[in-house]
Amino acid sequence: MRSWEELRQVCEQCQKCELGASRTNLVFGDGNPNAEIMFVGEGPGQQEDLTGTPFVGPAGQLLDRMLEIIDLDRTKYYIANIVKCRPPRNRDPLAGEQDACIDYLREQVKLVRPKIIVCLGRIAAMRLISPDYRITREHGQWVQRSGFWMTAIYHPSALLRDESKRPETFDDLISIREKIKEVCERTC
Ligand code: SF4
Ligand code: URA
Repeated sequence: MRSWEELRQVCEQCQKCELGASRTNLVFGDGNPNAEIMFVGEGPGQQEDLTGTPFVGPAGQLLDRMLEIIDLDRTKYYIANIVKCRPPRNRDPLAGEQDACIDYLREQVKLVRPKIIVCLGRIAAMRLISPDYRITREHGQWVQRSGFWMTAIYHPSALLRDESKRPETFDDLISIREKIKEVCERTC
């Protein structure tokens, strides 16, 4: 198995899909590499591409405020994306791009060994939980997969567009907090 440093270097050089050609920076991941909880988004946006850090733009700032409610900050979780380079004009990453990139995320999961994985939005949930995942119906529900507790919440960009989804997401955050209490030893 590759170390964090080896994996990061491979990703920095990667041109396995077309997104590699247009990136400013690779967006590898951020937070605590030994965290018990991991968050996974879909792909970098403009601010992430410019800084090389996931979830630092408007959606990321909302996410930070949401996670503060349940006492989580980046010393307590690890955060990454399904694809590590920015899709042009923030379109959804194509299936082929996700296929090309997903093994890096899987390696990151193996290195972190979290107890809980939270998908941010439909794209991550379809990729990591189930190809027919319906975010409107299934968000906040827990499933056990390959030794991880997994759930999905609405993507913070969706919450920026549609504030009516925020109360449901608040309930999901409380459920995440409960799951942390149930299965984590070092978090909170
Ligand atoms: Fe490589 Fe992933 Fe970037 Fe595509 S998105 S070039 S697979 S690192
Ligand atoms: N949206 C994502 O899915 N990931 C980021 O890193 C930023 C915005």
